[in-house]
Amino acid sequence: MALNFVPKLLLVLAFAAFSTGARRSELELKETHMSLFFHDIAAGPNFTLIPVAGIAGKLWTFAQFGTAFVTDDPLTETPDRNAPIIGRGQGIYVTSGLDGRNTHVLISIVFTNKKYNGSTLEIQGTSKQFEKVREVSVVSGTGQFRFARGYATFETYLLDPATFYSVERCNVTVQHY
Ligand SMILES: *[C@@H]1O[C@H](CO)[C@@H](O)[C@H](O)[C@H]1NC(C)=O
Ligand SMILES: *[C@@H]1O[C@H](CO)[C@@H](O)[C@H](O)[C@H]1NC(C)=O
Ligand SMILES: *[C@@H]1O[C@H](CO)[C@@H](O)[C@H](O)[C@H]1NC(C)=O
Repeated sequence: MALNFVPKLLLVLAFAAFSTGARRSELELKETHMSLFFHDIAAGPNFTLIPVAGIAGKLWTFAQFGTAFVTDDPLTETPDRNAPIIGRGQGIYVTSGLDGRNTHVLISIVFTNKKYNGSTLEIQGTSKQFEKVREVSVVSGTGQFRFARGYATFETYLLDPATFYSVERCNVTVQHY
């Protein structure tokens, strides 16, 4: 049994080495840049962002440590609210700085446009939420963005406090195969 096992294992290893070599020469690292606009409604009947958990007895606001929000924002290629939707920004934010300044961001960009339909990008990291430009890491992806890594910046493009509506511009730079 043991003798029989050795050649098979070697064969497997040899094949693995061969296929790894083929992959490396076929796949080329690409860099993709894009600007996306997140349309966010933080209150009212059509909200796309809502606090879902927090410390009892405290206000569940962005500035309060321990508050968790869930979001599902439509994404467009231009700031226009009525522009075609190219995907959704779905995930959670948790205010994770005791002083309320930093939020932990876990957002999937779920593409539905023709070019990237079915592919996703995963954003994860701490965001200095009250700064003008917030930079977070892009840690992975699926579909056309397999093995993706890079970074994304967020900046508020438009804010309408009366309707709790805001538009965030997100610039993504990712390297992927
Ligand atoms: C919420 O969405 C519905 C359906 O799209 C729309 O008719 C309504 O005017 C919206 N309400 C507000 C406050 O934007
Ligand atoms: C995206 O893929 C879904 C399911 O595969 C399909 O129903 C839809 O029509 C596609 N959308 C575009 C814009 O290609
Ligand atoms: C995002 O990209 C736009 C151009 O598409 C640029 O004008 C803007 O300054 C960029 N924002 C950041 C924070 O780099």
